[in-house]
Amino acid sequence: MIYEQPDYINRRKKLGSLIQEKYQVKNGNIILFANLENERTLFSQESSFFYYTGINEPGAVLIVDLNGYTTLFIPNFDGKREAWMSGCIDLKSPQKVGVDEIKLLGDSYKGIVAHPFFTVDEYNHLIEFIKNSGLPFFSLLPDLASSNFVQKFLLNRLISFLSELGEKVRDISSLIYSMRRKKDATEMVAIIKAIEITHMGFDAAKEVIRPGGLESEVKAAMEYIFTSFGAQSAFPTIAASGKNATILHYTKNLDELSSGDLLLIDAGAEFNHYCADISRTFAISEKMTPRQKELFNVVQDTKEYIESLAKPGMYLNNNLFPENSLSHLAMQFFAKYGLEKYFTHGIGHYLGLDVHDVGSSHEALSEGDVITIEPGLYIKEESIGIRLEDDYQITKNGCVCLSDLDKS
Ligand code: GLY
Ligand code: MN
Ligand code: MN
Repeated sequence: MIYEQPDYINRRKKLGSLIQEKYQVKNGNIILFANLENERTLFSQESSFFYYTGINEPGAVLIVDLNGYTTLFIPNFDGKREAWMSGCIDLKSPQKVGVDEIKLLGDSYKGIVAHPFFTVDEYNHLIEFIKNSGLPFFSLLPDLASSNFVQKFLLNRLISFLSELGEKVRDISSLIYSMRRKKDATEMVAIIKAIEITHMGFDAAKEVIRPGGLESEVKAAMEYIFTSFGAQSAFPTIAASGKNATILHYTKNLDELSSGDLLLIDAGAEFNHYCADISRTFAISEKMTPRQKELFNVVQDTKEYIESLAKPGMYLNNNLFPENSLSHLAMQFFAKYGLEKYFTHGIGHYLGLDVHDVGSSHEALSEGDVITIEPGLYIKEESIGIRLEDDYQITKNGCVCLSDLDKS
């Protein structure tokens, strides 16, 4: 299958215009950092860097002027990296990666891996470029403790060699996030493909559910399908039986499946960088006990209720407007059954390049947002954990379920 390429050039131009408008400036540079490698895990690109480039290589630095002229700075490995890695960027072929120019960050690295503690020499061309530009810089520096750690770290390291940069950098995370929230057609194709692969994973996983089977077999069946279809796990698969399912992010997945217990599977494929996120809960033996079924039905009813309410103007979670906040409304629904204390997480999140994608849950939903709806009940004393989760797109007047392919 041939997929249409996203229009990275226009995305960068649009970001430039948004900055010009918000900051009332004509000139300046956007600076974004690619993620770094880690030898124990597969390389995963920084999502916003990928959103504006489609480039999946570590260690690069992107400079875009506000009219869209794009320079990609890459680490200088002196041609050594090609012997070890595929996909290396060719300095002489900017058109291949859709940028105007490619330059070396600086002098050559000793090895073939870009690392966080780069020296002034390894970045001296970029440092010179910034010194000479005399313009404001715009980057991803949201004021959230957990996000953009690599971006912040690399920028701070750069500032340690170039103190004047510190005063010139403004945070544009809200502009970038507002763009990433609106998925274009190419992004929706990737999300839907990730969802289809996840459904096939669930079909395979269901085949290995049996008393005496293992949580690890369930995970393996799921991820065998992901790998076969050129995808990978968007997050660590959760195959949690019995009491384990009451631990929200249980990922050990080593216990035996016991007759009479439930099995909660929460899994998602990442296809072409876009994520799916789906949860189902199954009986390990033939059928659920009456109590399990009663609780399962409440979760299912809550999910249908929230689906019926999700639309532009509602919030995923907003304490100031509980009457329009889906998390609060789900809690109230559970409260009708006296079960509210067992619903211990929010009702959902944005979905896209990141499984918990950018966008504030306090902001109103709008047409085009892609979200999850995932009510659950976790009752330790009964060894019961139930979560049902699907993926949705907000439409003009409501939402459409993207993952309801086979009602599995
Ligand atoms: N799988 C993580 C989540 O559902 O948010
Ligand atoms: Mn989720
Ligand atoms: Mn999930």
